[in-house]
Amino acid sequence: MKMNDYIDLVNKTIDKLMPINYPHKIFKAMKYTVTLPGKRLRPVMCLETCRMFGGNYEDALPTACAIEMLHAQTLIHDDLPCMDNDMYRRGQLTNHMVFGEAHAVLAGDALLTFAPQIILKNSKELGPDKLIKIMGEYFQAAGAYGVIAGQVVDIESESLIKAMEISGGVDKDDEQLPEILNYIHSHKTADLFKLALRTGAIIAGASDKQLEEITEFGQTLGIAFQIADDILDETSTFEEMGKTMGKDKEAGKLTYTALYGLEKAKKDLNQLIDKCFDILNKNELKSEVFEQILNKIRII
Ligand code: IPE
Ligand code: IPE
Ligand code: MG
Ligand code: MG
Ligand code: MG
Repeated sequence: MKMNDYIDLVNKTIDKLMPINYPHKIFKAMKYTVTLPGKRLRPVMCLETCRMFGGNYEDALPTACAIEMLHAQTLIHDDLPCMDNDMYRRGQLTNHMVFGEAHAVLAGDALLTFAPQIILKNSKELGPDKLIKIMGEYFQAAGAYGVIAGQVVDIESESLIKAMEISGGVDKDDEQLPEILNYIHSHKTADLFKLALRTGAIIAGASDKQLEEITEFGQTLGIAFQIADDILDETSTFEEMGKTMGKDKEAGKLTYTALYGLEKAKKDLNQLIDKCFDILNKNELKSEVFEQILNKIRII
């Protein structure tokens, strides 16, 4: 399967999996952000990992779509006025701008719980052992040990940076900052990448060693991806990204570019992408789709 075939399949399946039931407004709000034109990186990675480890990608389809729903949940809540306060997402108005704040909060909550139900209802043929493992992965990545942990520390970093600025400026040699930044990136971003890869591998029946390999790949790619997002926030445009740029600096976020500057950020990003290629080669994992994804993230 090619990248675009996977994307079409994911889009069609998501549409089928999300009927507009009563109460209509909540189902519409849930479906609104999920079906906006995102890159579909996480579901594609889930399907491709399943194929790469010898599985049938169709077996991973409900899980892949559920992970895109979870991702949309993180975006809806990330954009709320109390979080990053963004008006645009995927080129359109954010969820709360269209449905109001209360419904956007509820749509996020609903997606968080709807997604694992999608897996349980549509993947019975995987059997209880794999399903329990997938649920464990989902809750680990989605909850207070995963994305939420990253988002909490991301938001707290704004006041940390402000406090530092008040007391004489941000000391970029402060040893705690790289650690905090790595924690934020690992959890708010890499955790969903790892979820996509690990569940794809579990569905294919991968060994523990293979799971370790793909986890290292996901961690590296996730960090690279968030560094790229931090760079693009400074260098890209609304037309390219479909969201308002320049907001990280304005909010005083602890980002890779804030800490290390644009040049080092670009250099480190490319090194991490090289490392991702090395991990694939070292483990004899062949995938045009992953090569395409890696090259796309590198080009900035
Ligand atoms: C946005 O992710 C959130 C980050 C982790 C930076 P994507 O850049 O994958 O967003 P979509 O899915 O294409 O909209
Ligand atoms: C992305 O962080 C993390 C999540 C949405 C969980 P950002 O806040 O940098 O993402 P964008 O730039 O708004 O897409
Ligand atoms: Mg954010
Ligand atoms: Mg944001
Ligand atoms: Mg960003």
